[in-house]
Amino acid sequence: MKYLFLLSFIVIFVTSCSSDKLSLKEKQAYIAKGKEIGKATVKKLGSKLMEKMKAGGPQQAIPFCNVKAMSLTEEMANKYHVSIKRTSHKIRNEKNKPTEVEKVIIEHYLTTISKGEKLKPIVKKDVAGKVHFYAPIKLEGKCLACHGVVGEQVTSKTDSILKALYPNDKATGFKIGDLRGIVNITFNE
Ligand code: HEC
Repeated sequence: MKYLFLLSFIVIFVTSCSSDKLSLKEKQAYIAKGKEIGKATVKKLGSKLMEKMKAGGPQQAIPFCNVKAMSLTEEMANKYHVSIKRTSHKIRNEKNKPTEVEKVIIEHYLTTISKGEKLKPIVKKDVAGKVHFYAPIKLEGKCLACHGVVGEQVTSKTDSILKALYPNDKATGFKIGDLRGIVNITFNE
């Protein structure tokens, strides 16, 4: 029993030490930068997606909900020295599956939403000393055609294209305002 107590003390000590060594000022600066990058990414991704939706519906737009499908990731990496990942508790592409840390962040946002509280970005250092900016991604009306309810907003045609590309797709059934996932921006400087 004593041993267990000591062990949990060490675990708490180690995790609290390694997770956060940023000052409030540094945190605020990273949050501002993260928000700016997040906005720029959403704008680029969103406009490309809508352009393709208008031109050829979900069939043409499907490849464009992928941050890595465009030069966008590279552009952001060059401009801001960051890498961008989107992940979720209900993923479409296995490549986007969450790490243990990302799972904790997603859980935190899900609990916060269920309490009706506001979701805020999170800045944290990882064990390697790199800073990460995490922010929630909420579902909007324009996302429904590919992430809404199958048979309602997601037509059976779209569903069959999605199933062919992503046989283990978990990313349907969302409603407007639901937590779709999170963005994880890693600062590489
Ligand atoms: C035209 C169809 C389409 C629309 C519209 C769409 N998505 Fe997606 N979404 C996809 C596809 C396809 C993927 C898988 C991309 C990949 O292979 O990385 C995806 C993946 C994602 C992911 C990455 C996590 C995962 O499940 O793999 C997030 C987050 C996401 N979408 C959010 C959104 C949001 C938010 C909107 C609305 C602003 C939106 N999507 C609109 C088709 C779409």
